[in-house]
Amino acid sequence: MPRCWYFVKRPVGPVTEGCFELREIESRPLKDGSVRVANRWLSVDPSVRWRMDAETPLPPLPLGGKLNGPALGEVVESRSAQFHVGDVVTHLAGWRDEAVLPAEALQRVPDIPVPESAFLGVLGYPGVTAYFGLYDVARVRPGDVVFISAGGGAVGTAAIQMAKAGGMTVVASAGGPEKCALARKLGADVTIDYKGGLPIATALREAAPSGIDVYFDNVGGDHLDAALATAKKGARFAICGMVSGYNSRSREPIPHLDRIISAGITLKGFEVFSFADRLAEFYEVAGQWIHRGALTNVETVRHGLENTPQAFLGLFTGENLGKLVVCL
Ligand SMILES: NC(=O)c1ccc[n+]([C@@H]2O[C@H](COP(=O)([O-])OP(=O)(O)OC[C@H]3O[C@@H](n4cnc5c(N)ncnc54)[C@H](OP(=O)(O)O)[C@@H]3O)[C@@H](O)[C@H]2O)c1
Repeated sequence: MPRCWYFVKRPVGPVTEGCFELREIESRPLKDGSVRVANRWLSVDPSVRWRMDAETPLPPLPLGGKLNGPALGEVVESRSAQFHVGDVVTHLAGWRDEAVLPAEALQRVPDIPVPESAFLGVLGYPGVTAYFGLYDVARVRPGDVVFISAGGGAVGTAAIQMAKAGGMTVVASAGGPEKCALARKLGADVTIDYKGGLPIATALREAAPSGIDVYFDNVGGDHLDAALATAKKGARFAICGMVSGYNSRSREPIPHLDRIISAGITLKGFEVFSFADRLAEFYEVAGQWIHRGALTNVETVRHGLENTPQAFLGLFTGENLGKLVVCL
C-alpha cells in the first residue's frame, strides 16, 4: 500500500514530529487523463511550517489533511496521451511515495544533464525563486552589492551563484563556519556567520561599509532590520521569505523600517508560482550557467519516507547545506 504523511496537530511554537502521522492510502485506479507516479525524491520546505498555523497569510493546511510539496518521480501507469511509463516528472504531491494526478499537474523535467534531484533544487523551485527574485523582483545590475540571507540553504546557495554569474558583489549570511565556507566556495565575496557573536547589524555594516544596493531576504526579523539600516539610497529588496518567524507567533520589531522613506528603499514581496509562465526563460539561462560551470546543485540528502518530518524539522535548526531532499 502507498503511504502518505498527514498533518494531525497544529504546532504551538516550534514544530515537532508529533504534528505528523504516516498512514497507508488507497491505491486508486486511474481515471482517463490521469497518471500514477512513483515518487523518488521529496522536497521539504520551510513555508510548510508557516502554513501549519491557523492564521497565516498563506493558505493554511487543513488539520487532518495530507501534507504536500514538490516531488520528483517516474510515471508507472498512464491514462494520458501526454505521459508515458518511464517519464520523469515533477509535481506538488510530495510527502508520499505514490501520487495519482491529472496530467496537467505534472511537468516533464527539461533535458539538462544534471542528477535528477537537482530538479527539486537549483533547477527546481529554489532556483526559480532565486533567479526571478534577483533578476525580476530586485532588478539586480552588474556591480550591485547584494546581501543574501540564509546563504547556506536551497534558495541562498542558488542566489549566491546567480548573483556572481551576473557580476554582482555578494555578501551572504549563514549560521556557522561550515555554511559560510560553502557560501564563499560558491562565490560569496564576504560572509557573515550570524551565530558568530556579532549582532547581524554590526557584522553587515563591517561587511558592506559603503552599503548594499539589493537585499534578497530569506530570513526577515533582525536580518531585514540590518539590511534596512545598511541600505544605500534607492536600494531594492526582494522579500522572499521570513524563516526566522515561522516557528513562532511573535515577530521581531523592525526599528529601521522608517529608512524605507528616508533612503527611498523599495520592498517587493513575491511568490515563485507567479513566474510559472516564465520557466522556459529560467531553464535557458540556468542551463547555460550549468554548462559553463557557473551554477551547481548543492543538496543534503535524507533517506526514507518515514524520515520526512525529521528532515523537515532540520530546516529550522539549520541542518541542511543547500537543498534538503528526501530520497525514497
Ligand atoms: N517567495 C517564495 O516563493 C519562496 C519560495 C521558496 C522559498 N522561499 C523562502 O525562502 C527562504 C529559504 O527557503 P529554502 O527553501 O531555501 O530553505 P533553506 O534556506 O534551505 O533552509 C532554511 C534555512 O533557514 C535558516 N534559518 C532557520 N531559522 C533561522 C533563523 N531563526 N534565523 C536565520 N536563519 C534561519 C537555516 O540556516 P542557518 O543554518 O543559516 O540558520 C536553514 O537551513 C524561506 O524563508 C522560504 O520560505 C520563498
